[in-house]
Amino acid sequence: MKYNKIREEELKNKVGADWFKQFDTTEILGNIDFTVFPQQDNLFGRTPLLWAEAKTGNFDVTTMFVQLILTIGKARTFDKTMPPAFLGAFDFKKIAFVPYISIQDIFYLNDFNWNVTPSNHETKEFQLIKKRIEATLKQNTYVYDYEKDEKELQAFIKNNVAKATTTSKLKIDKNNFIPIYLRWLEIVKPIIDVNWDDLKKANILDSDFFLADLFVDDKDTQQIEDDLSIRDNLFVVFQHEGYKIAKENLKQMFDATITLKNKDTYLHFWKRYKRPPLKEFQDYIIERRDLLVPQDIRERKGAFFTPRIWVELSQKYLTDYLGENWQDDYYIWDCAAGTGNLLAGLTNKYNIFASTLDQADVNVMHERIDHGANLLKGNVFQFDFLNDDFSKLPDPLQSIINNPEKRKNLVIYINPPYAEAGNTKQRTGTGENKANTSITNKTYEKYKGKIGKASNELFTQFLIRIYSEIEGCKIANFSTLKNLQSSNFKDFRNVFLARLEKLFLTPADTFDNVKGQFPIGFFIWDTYQKEIFKGGLADVYDKFGNFKCEKNIINYDYEKGLIGKWLSSFKINKNEILIGMMNTGRNDFQNQNLVHIQQETADKGHSVYITKDNIFPSVVFFSVRHCINANWLNDRDQFVYPNANWQTDLEFQTDCLTFSLFHNNNNTQLKFGTNHWIPFTEQEVNAQAKFASNFMTNFIKGKIKQEVTTNDLFVIPTQEKSHKVNQPLVFSEEATAVFDAGRELWKYYHAQNGVNVNASLYDIREYFQGRNDKGRMNSKSDDATYMELIGNLRESLKILADKIKPKVYEYGFLKE
Ligand SMILES: C[S@@+](CC[C@H](N)C(=O)[O-])C[C@H]1O[C@@H](n2cnc3c(N)ncnc32)[C@H](O)[C@@H]1O
Repeated sequence: MKYNKIREEELKNKVGADWFKQFDTTEILGNIDFTVFPQQDNLFGRTPLLWAEAKTGNFDVTTMFVQLILTIGKARTFDKTMPPAFLGAFDFKKIAFVPYISIQDIFYLNDFNWNVTPSNHETKEFQLIKKRIEATLKQNTYVYDYEKDEKELQAFIKNNVAKATTTSKLKIDKNNFIPIYLRWLEIVKPIIDVNWDDLKKANILDSDFFLADLFVDDKDTQQIEDDLSIRDNLFVVFQHEGYKIAKENLKQMFDATITLKNKDTYLHFWKRYKRPPLKEFQDYIIERRDLLVPQDIRERKGAFFTPRIWVELSQKYLTDYLGENWQDDYYIWDCAAGTGNLLAGLTNKYNIFASTLDQADVNVMHERIDHGANLLKGNVFQFDFLNDDFSKLPDPLQSIINNPEKRKNLVIYINPPYAEAGNTKQRTGTGENKANTSITNKTYEKYKGKIGKASNELFTQFLIRIYSEIEGCKIANFSTLKNLQSSNFKDFRNVFLARLEKLFLTPADTFDNVKGQFPIGFFIWDTYQKEIFKGGLADVYDKFGNFKCEKNIINYDYEKGLIGKWLSSFKINKNEILIGMMNTGRNDFQNQNLVHIQQETADKGHSVYITKDNIFPSVVFFSVRHCINANWLNDRDQFVYPNANWQTDLEFQTDCLTFSLFHNNNNTQLKFGTNHWIPFTEQEVNAQAKFASNFMTNFIKGKIKQEVTTNDLFVIPTQEKSHKVNQPLVFSEEATAVFDAGRELWKYYHAQNGVNVNASLYDIREYFQGRNDKGRMNSKSDDATYMELIGNLRESLKILADKIKPKVYEYGFLKE
């Protein structure tokens, strides 16, 4: 069999490299094993091509598909992101594909319990899906043996997977047709080849073109004909790939077809939406065409905006939570409104209030109202939320906030300003950095004693005033996750008692002027329900607004401690040979790159000494911190105090030792002193002289007796469950492969002239890669043999990393 005896991670890597090289197979999507996307983004993100199940061994195709269907159905992934063109399943021997469209009905089964474990093939739900889907699968599945059908498989991928387009679309309803229009203005309007001024004189507006677009039949992109009441109400219709003016008295004047300058952009735009709108909202949309006015939101210097996609998505979450008629049932107050961007797309102006700090912004909003924005002038006013008294608010709003019942129906909907006291450089959120203004207001003075360090930030000042002074309201706000997770916000968490009803996360760098790689959340809080946030699930979206996965957000106040505390609990005797120091960095992914092994003479920040007695905890620490790459989403995840099970997993420990010996962040360098980390003996690598230290190979041979002591109360495992004295360490297949690749590299180095026998991995890299004019080490070498050897080493280290990863969660270093 082609991929015999390898682990699932390696199988996925190999299948990705061998068959889907021209695509991106690195995207993670919930619990789906394997995904394929095109390499290139288009304007709206990427069409998913394949979601697949991977299995080690030789498996039954139907069984694999059923497991995949249960995985997808459980997470309802298709509700949140575009489904792929194909579902797939592969194992050691074969790969199978089925068009998504042929099985998608299964996800809409009535009364089906999706909440089962997909990998349990014995459940009655598993059997039921199997029975339902078997015939469809038989008819529609393409199965290829990697070896026997190599050519056919290549052709299938080239002709079908690569050229696939997706068929799932967002439905259009009464809450989202305005946000869709606002996007349409940005993307489709500019490609319509027409003189808008001429049309305006004849009272035809861009919204008429938008309506023409909305009311087409998606199948053949023709205006829908069957519903006369709708057709008669359209002033413009879409026909034969162009627009026609349909208003009776103007037909003669404008009889030419109005064409599109770029059809691809048009098609891409409408690919996301299912046209026409849902039947029950069609009349409403036609009747309320008055709501379709350009919002003319102006950006003033220094003001920051919530990007349109997140405005739209946040309103979708509000609709999901509060119901389809929420805009009639609830009052909405944006008390940090700027020029009113967040309110664009809302329909019921009688229920909306908007206030903001600067009168100039209020003036802009008033001007926008003159041009058709859906707001009432009397409800849009200047108000300094952190200083002003509520008695200054307009009467209708006062009557809401002074009435406990009405307050429950008030949604404070904001993207608050962000600034932290005393730190002008640090932009921590999505907005304007008004440093030094953050502690010169009344709200700060009033609440600083209650919420501790959190009071230094503007966004928490907004939250605490709303929470304390508009009791029982709903808060729908954007912010970082600090209020849920940061240790500085513990006091805040203990005072701000509310139920987190909804949360989605987006990459921070999609917001104006934010460069960092971290998540920004949209939160819906019900402050009437008093509870401490202990943790919860968030939906995660990529920069295009496509749903990626769910993520568990943890409040670390309830953990035993963080990983740094755990490593420091191991005692060492400083009289023993000091083989190095671990720069422990802080405890989160954000600081991953700080974690490195060095010698004593290098810098000493956050460092723990390493001797024979704490080698294993140290390499475990190093490996769990490095085997998973940091990204925007895990940026603030903290590594915590693990459970004790890692101690008896000897293979995990030697895997971690191997990983730490050959990882680039093992920064041991000759210039800082003795290298105690040489992983080979002189004989193994044909060294020209004896090494200054054979510590590591002696340690590996079991010649060095360890005495592990810790000031933690948990029990150190007995001799039987530890590495045995005088017995060599035992290494896994994956670790051995790393040693093998490393040995070739060391041998090649030692075969060169004039090398230093004690060289570390860093020194070897420096020898071959050299440095540039600025003194930085080059990333590549001209020596092809070296490049191949270091490439092999990195490849095998990646496989080892994949093996270590699940244990990081199993032993509780990271919480899932
Ligand atoms: C991040 S912007 C959000 C703007 C707009 N609502 C949006 O979502 O695009 C925050 C706004 O809050 C305003 N602001 C700052 N301090 C304020 C205060 N004390 N009271 C009211 N508004 C304030 C700023 O001027 C800015 O326009």
